[in-house]
Amino acid sequence: MFDVKSVRKDFPALRSQDIVYLDNAATSFTPEPVTDELIDYYHRNGTSVHRGIYKRAEETTRKLEKSREKTADFIGADSSREIVFTKNCTESLNLLAYSFHHWSEKRGKILVTEMDHHSNILPWKIMAKGSDRFELEFVDVTRNGRIDMEDYENKLSPDTVAVAFPGVSNVIGAYNQVKELTKLAHDNHTLVIVDGAQWLPHRKFDIPEYDVDFLTFSAHKMLGPTGLGILYGREDLLERMPPPFGGGEMVRSTTKEETTWNDVPQKFEAGTPPIAQIIAFGAALDYLNELGLSAVKKHVDSLTEKAINLLSKIQGVEIYGPKEGEDRGGLVSFNLKGVHPHDLAASLDSIDNIAIRAGLHCAQPLHEAMELNATSRASFYVYNEEGEIDRLARAIREARKIFGGEK
Ligand code: ALA
Repeated sequence: MFDVKSVRKDFPALRSQDIVYLDNAATSFTPEPVTDELIDYYHRNGTSVHRGIYKRAEETTRKLEKSREKTADFIGADSSREIVFTKNCTESLNLLAYSFHHWSEKRGKILVTEMDHHSNILPWKIMAKGSDRFELEFVDVTRNGRIDMEDYENKLSPDTVAVAFPGVSNVIGAYNQVKELTKLAHDNHTLVIVDGAQWLPHRKFDIPEYDVDFLTFSAHKMLGPTGLGILYGREDLLERMPPPFGGGEMVRSTTKEETTWNDVPQKFEAGTPPIAQIIAFGAALDYLNELGLSAVKKHVDSLTEKAINLLSKIQGVEIYGPKEGEDRGGLVSFNLKGVHPHDLAASLDSIDNIAIRAGLHCAQPLHEAMELNATSRASFYVYNEEGEIDRLARAIREARKIFGGEK
């Protein structure tokens, strides 16, 4: 286990003012080794990649490609050619939806789940709407916030083009049964896309173990910089997919008539990439590897367990999702009876500088399925401490008094 006190010292955003930052599922803070790498690029190098034939630009290219290798290693991908850098997890999913539209020879259903974030629903919805070849269908979620496996099996058929689901829900923190879902899809010759945005920061996602075809995630939720997303794709599939964006570096040769795309992954990276962010993401992966992902998960799990324990003792608090166990992610969504989550979030901020997220968390279909108007969400990461969970519970009790809950 790592020493949280010393981890906290690495995060300048924790030093600037007192804050109990419990909005890590939205974005994480960034440690100094990562910001150092960003500054180093701008102050000491500043050149482009893949283009310059001089030492400085060659160094940039080498460092950027090193980050790609680290990303591939982090998820156990066969090759760094399977790692495409995008703007964020959302863009990775949009890229996939666009490519399916123009490439898939199969016609039929795309399955998403009621549990998905809008990022893994809307790209498919837009794609299906613009085509007479695809149809979008939702897999149900049970009242206790699980993908309904029976419904999934019923809706899955050899005509299903692809299934897209979250590794772990950004609202209820339930880890999904990725292996089972994937095996069932593959038995139907259906491709599998996993939105790993909430999984990758906390838990090892080993491609050979889970056997998915595509995996998407964002750097900024796992100690990296903003403006950078990752798309993992099986190399043979990436080879077949058309690029959604045209521009420099994605092309090997183009005349006025003929064009030959570059190799993967460059084929998908038109224009100057987010160079500094990619290089700095390598430092974020080093930092996480140093802490050890199993230690990160253990730490976050113990904070989550404590939060569930303390919050469930507060009268009027209802918690959603699995209560404990291996399949519980590092966040807790809840409601305080009679208080709108927006009011609760604003109160916690005023009472004790506590930052949580409140609302629909870009997952409106899930809220509808669970018959919830909105929820409050506290999400934890490597620098959060037990004392902060005590502060959260105290502030909720205080808010309860303010809103008349003591009557
Ligand atoms: N997807 C991010 C969240 O759940 C923004 O907060």
